[in-house]
Amino acid sequence: MTTTPPAHRSVGTARTRVEGRDKVTGAARYAAEIPFTGLAHGWLVLSTITRGRIREIHTAPVLDMPGVLTVLHHGNAPRLHTDYVGLLGVPPDPAACVFQHDRVPFAGWPVALVVAGTPEQAREAAEALTVTYEEEPHDTALTADHPDAYVPEGGMPAETSKGDLEAELAASAVVVDEEYTTPEEQHSMMEPHAATARWDDGRLEVVDSNQGAGWVQGELATLFSLDPAAVRVRSEHIGGGFGSKGLRAHQVGAVMAATALDRPVRVVLSRRQLFSLAGYRSPTIQRVRLGAGADGRLRALEHRSLNQTSQVYEFLEPSAGVARVMYDAPAHRTAHRLVRLDVPSPTWMRAPGEASGSFAIEVALDELAERTGTDPIELRLRNEPDAGPVSGLPFSSRNLAACFREGARRFGWQDRDPRPGLRREGRWLLGTGTAAASFGAGAAPSTAQITAEPDGSFTVRIAAADIGTGARTALTLIAADALDTTPEHVRVRIGDSDFGPAMIAGGSMGTRSWAWAITAAAQDLRERLIPGTAVPPDGITVRSDTTAALGALSRKERHSFGAQFAEVAVDTATGEIRVRRMLGIFAAGRIVNPLTARGQLLGGMTWGISMALHEEAVRDHHTGAHYAPDLAGYHVATHADVPHLEADWVDDHDPDDPVGIKGIGEIGIVGAAAALTNAVWHATGTRHRHLPLRPDRIL
Ligand code: MOS
Repeated sequence: MTTTPPAHRSVGTARTRVEGRDKVTGAARYAAEIPFTGLAHGWLVLSTITRGRIREIHTAPVLDMPGVLTVLHHGNAPRLHTDYVGLLGVPPDPAACVFQHDRVPFAGWPVALVVAGTPEQAREAAEALTVTYEEEPHDTALTADHPDAYVPEGGMPAETSKGDLEAELAASAVVVDEEYTTPEEQHSMMEPHAATARWDDGRLEVVDSNQGAGWVQGELATLFSLDPAAVRVRSEHIGGGFGSKGLRAHQVGAVMAATALDRPVRVVLSRRQLFSLAGYRSPTIQRVRLGAGADGRLRALEHRSLNQTSQVYEFLEPSAGVARVMYDAPAHRTAHRLVRLDVPSPTWMRAPGEASGSFAIEVALDELAERTGTDPIELRLRNEPDAGPVSGLPFSSRNLAACFREGARRFGWQDRDPRPGLRREGRWLLGTGTAAASFGAGAAPSTAQITAEPDGSFTVRIAAADIGTGARTALTLIAADALDTTPEHVRVRIGDSDFGPAMIAGGSMGTRSWAWAITAAAQDLRERLIPGTAVPPDGITVRSDTTAALGALSRKERHSFGAQFAEVAVDTATGEIRVRRMLGIFAAGRIVNPLTARGQLLGGMTWGISMALHEEAVRDHHTGAHYAPDLAGYHVATHADVPHLEADWVDDHDPDDPVGIKGIGEIGIVGAAAALTNAVWHATGTRHRHLPLRPDRIL
């Protein structure tokens, strides 16, 4: 039979979370809260030196302490199979593959796991464990002229280049040539990493907090040389992830200990341990050179970025990549360099590349606007490219101009006097600023399973992850429309690797990728449901796989876009900056659930305030470790820092997506720090190029 495409009745309506009641009543249990009979607890011991070799681990006294069951370390841990490339196309970070050798490549490297009957016993024994080292000199400082800088290979191209940069710069009426820096920024989601591992009738089960149950399942199966079907990972509720919640030391340690002791073992990372084990955003030293005619039209654009990685793992924060999408010029060059230092491995962190890169390029454009006497919005509109500046491919849709028009109207930009340092309110100088945002809109193959139940309801099973974004609710709305029913008739089960392969909650691609698979399965199921015919007692189940559909997609530049606006007040006596208001207008495809989408975008903008004003993980280059690695020493924006924020969107639609979705996970942070920094210039007349905008830098 033929089916008509369903009308979208639920997609686009604001819905509270389907698990909201469970979350606020405590019924929703997070990874470290799920009880197990006979549970033992592991506590990681981290290196106190920055580089060298473990000489000895004095386990005997600790093994005599109350409740201690075992101490795992490189001398007794099983050897892992680490030589592979995982689901996301990258090898495992050796920092997660614990206890394989006696080398220490950074401060806070896991050297042992103490397992005991209670968390308190494990922690006390772990803190009592004496480890002696042979210490070697270290280098933890990223400097612009570091002699070991190199061009990374693999993944995205490190460099792109077209045209004669020097000739176009020489012929430009106005040139901006400046260095911009961003500091080391630390992952610290609300729920730290936690995993419980146990063997259940020959099957390894890991209850974890991660961004992809199937992802972690695949990594653990490979590392421990297990049949993937013999490993199950569950991750039902997650208190934030943002790029950090993949394979980490805690899951591997828990599996080792559960295997050694043949009982369930839980390993939880402490807030302080996150500072070396959870990953972070690399500090960046960026150089931007812009050349333009007197009208602000770009003739030359160069964006170079120098970032750091660890000695054991290559991770590139692709900060110069944003220029490959945003602005074109006859001469155009982007380039990345890396330096290997004795530091923990950086990782994906919300808008990796775009968050740090947009700071440099969007402040540089503001400087160009100032020097050409062009309005910052007009400058960006004059430089809108017709096609991908590097790829030459058409944009699937590019509604950046609409974001700026709508944002300017709502923010009141037309009344702005462009001259800096003029608006005074007592001790405060006031200013406004803007910046553009973009983030890739991709989709990755996923499988979904839908069962039509005899009572007329539907059960959707997909190994999706809801890291707090509201993905479970969004998928419920998607499924309801695709099944031509109401959300009350749909049960979405996620966070279980047994549901089959699916995209992770990452790259702003989760909801879109899962929605695609659910829509495909629903279409099949509707064709199999015959009106007036009863559904058999065990239901009717169909399964989808979007690999082929995604493989057939045409090549285009697919991105979300946005315009950020900020108003700040700067205290001329103390250097304190207060954000007065922010507005973000986004063109980010079809918005599935306006309530949670707005929350997600506001969360990104709030993180942008944090990035602009507070966040800075300061490393003591003498010891090689962080100063104050906790949320007392690492400052983040809190309630009093966050004023009236608004996030909204313009009509936008991905032409090839069955629902029109693009993805909103990361774009909220992009450009936010630049808009704030540009507002500080407008307030004070002083240009700032180094984050965070600490009071000592403002005065
Ligand atoms: Mo995002 S940095 O892909 O979790």
